[in-house]
Amino acid sequence: MKQNDIPYERQIFVCTNDCGGEKASCGDQRGLDVFRALRTLAKERGLHPRVRVAQATCLGQCSMGVNVMVFPDNIWYSHVGLDEIEIIADRYLTA
Ligand code: FES
Repeated sequence: MKQNDIPYERQIFVCTNDCGGEKASCGDQRGLDVFRALRTLAKERGLHPRVRVAQATCLGQCSMGVNVMVFPDNIWYSHVGLDEIEIIADRYLTA
């Protein structure tokens, strides 16, 4: 095993998981679209790959989806809608 420094200035994890069945999940709330929109903005703003927007499977807060977690800021956004992507982008996807 080799220990390394994290190669990104910031990582934004967007849950895109679909739990299936009756259980609420981020996938039910358009998590994949939220992920794609944030990733697109990161690229458009020239931040990729310094800032990594990554899909996450379940983050353990399914009924609160779409869940977005931002590191190293240690911020968790829940109930994120597509109409709120710009707010997150303006906070964390800046040069
Ligand atoms: S499905 Fe997103 S936190 Fe579980």
